[in-house]
Amino acid sequence: MKHFLKLMDWSPKEIASALNLADQLKYEKKNGIEHHLLKGKTLGMIFQKSSTRTRVSFEVGMYDLGGSALFLSSHDLQIGRGEPVEDTARVLSRYLDAIMIRTFEQKEVETLAEYGSIPIINGLTDYCHPCQVMADLMTIREHKGTIKGNKLCYIGDGNNMANSLIVGAIKTGMTVAVGCPKGYQPDSEIMKWANENGSFLCTDDILEAADGADVLYTDVWASMGQESEREERMKVFSGYQINDRVMDAAHKDAMVMHCLPAHREEEITAKVFEQHAGEIFDEAENRLHAQKAILVKCLSDDNK
Ligand code: CP
Ligand code: NVA
Repeated sequence: MKHFLKLMDWSPKEIASALNLADQLKYEKKNGIEHHLLKGKTLGMIFQKSSTRTRVSFEVGMYDLGGSALFLSSHDLQIGRGEPVEDTARVLSRYLDAIMIRTFEQKEVETLAEYGSIPIINGLTDYCHPCQVMADLMTIREHKGTIKGNKLCYIGDGNNMANSLIVGAIKTGMTVAVGCPKGYQPDSEIMKWANENGSFLCTDDILEAADGADVLYTDVWASMGQESEREERMKVFSGYQINDRVMDAAHKDAMVMHCLPAHREEEITAKVFEQHAGEIFDEAENRLHAQKAILVKCLSDDNK
């Protein structure tokens, strides 16, 4: 059975195959061609955190594919009252064909996969956000023609986005530089792996990170669940921003990406955001197409 728990679990070949399928599904949707590849299948979507893009794109994606999706808020599920994830996994496996979960701990997603008997898809944890990065890779290829050989620069918090971007970018042949304050760097195991498997730099100097970059990426300074740290983080991350100075350091044709939601004048200036809104909203749209490909890869009968 094929899960999508983190990008590290998928080979470069599996990632490439899903990206190709995503391109095909996007093209077909734009041309009114229906493809009910998941007819009669039901996806459960467990949310322990808020969402706009992930929820709507998964729900529409299942509809497009001929299946259906159930929104399951943890406020309403017994899991929110302490029912073990091990039991939730075994119960939901009896009703559903797959589960997408957005939660805090990566361990919870892994436990769901261990105890359940259906594919599990990670819709964001504190550790990673692999669905977003599949859409990001798809968008980079659309705008640059190819992924391999580009330099990706991530500026800001070494959070779930940074962790998944590093893995996705290295696996697809990009050079990666991250500009993060000391103490807020990405996961140390991921950085070690990136150093051993590709061209990777972690620095607290954002201009050094952005030097010659083809893709500039940022994310919020305080992620979901870090609301109490917000004030402290505003001080720590001050200056870790995509702005004109960073744009000048990057390649003149550099694209700018943001997973959204964005905080203007914090991690990105309103000016740069609007100048690159086309790329950023293509990226948001591609959540739909990339996730449809992930769903097909995880749920197709030949993967069982
Ligand atoms: N980028 C992203 O995952 O957006 P949502 O939090 O709205 O799902
Ligand atoms: N790092 C952000 C990403 C949101 C899509 C968060 O976890 O809140």
